[in-house]
Amino acid sequence: MSVAELQPREAQVRAGSKLVVEPVTPVIGAELSGVDLREPLDAATAADIQAALHRWRVVFFRGQDITHDQLKAFGRAFGPLTPAHPISEGLEAHPEIWERQVGEYRDRRNENDNLKPGRRRPRDYKGWHIDITFVANPNRYSILHGVQIPPYGGDTLFTNLIAAYEGLSPKVQRLIDELQAVHQTTGSEFGGPNRAPRRDGRATGPFVSLHPLVRVHPETGEKLLFLNPSVITHIPELKEPESQALLDLLFYEATRPEYQARFRWAPNSLVVWDNQAVAHAGPIDYQHFDLPRVVRRITVAGELPMGADGFTSQALEGELFNVIG
Ligand SMILES: [Fe+2]
Repeated sequence: MSVAELQPREAQVRAGSKLVVEPVTPVIGAELSGVDLREPLDAATAADIQAALHRWRVVFFRGQDITHDQLKAFGRAFGPLTPAHPISEGLEAHPEIWERQVGEYRDRRNENDNLKPGRRRPRDYKGWHIDITFVANPNRYSILHGVQIPPYGGDTLFTNLIAAYEGLSPKVQRLIDELQAVHQTTGSEFGGPNRAPRRDGRATGPFVSLHPLVRVHPETGEKLLFLNPSVITHIPELKEPESQALLDLLFYEATRPEYQARFRWAPNSLVVWDNQAVAHAGPIDYQHFDLPRVVRRITVAGELPMGADGFTSQALEGELFNVIG
């Protein structure tokens, strides 16, 4: 069977659906078309998009020239929205929307490369992360709209954490099924420690949470490697060298190229990723470009993760991520 014959079957959607699904790899990522997000989304099409998201983990739309209100209405088709971020402010008139400009990325360049020898931070995983897991109830989906996009550079990488878990040998799976990891803010994020409260009066951290290392996806029931390399500090039940070595192994496994898709942005691209199934890194080459780049993100509220052994995530410090609706 040729690839051309295989693809329509793999991409199959509900009969009569207007949604067109074109996978970009066998493991992760699909381009979606046939839907104009300026129009209200009917329930059947929203369900089709959600089914494609659960099958492909991250989905990509093109040419969606939408307003702030249309962006929020699209997000609400999948559940209530959170504020923009637990630490960083949203837009004043749209507190659900987090607008990010390229200057922030420039500030992050070479953070570890510029440290004196011997002063490297112990965890350096090149920007790979799951959104907002320093709170106990990280968001369910993330939706990112490209507003001003450079002609080249600023791509985003996504990796399939379910495939990464399933690729491990059964003995390693059994070991990590019963472990948890500490996820926490380090104090240097988004303006440093001792930040003022948010406009809505909520504290901006510090945040520390205990999450299962293997999460059961709340919608599909699949097991996944709930690995957020950027904010995990350690696995409390292990000795430090064991914890570090195991996290290094899992990071290597989670970011194998065969589990990844790489998205090249254009103005009005819109990406939805299942934050319960993927880790991402982007813009991956911010050290190398100074071109303007503006994106806007909203996040659909999530629940407390549950582990393969039934462990439910706990807030050790800081409040839960609140919901606007
Ligand atoms: Fe992110």
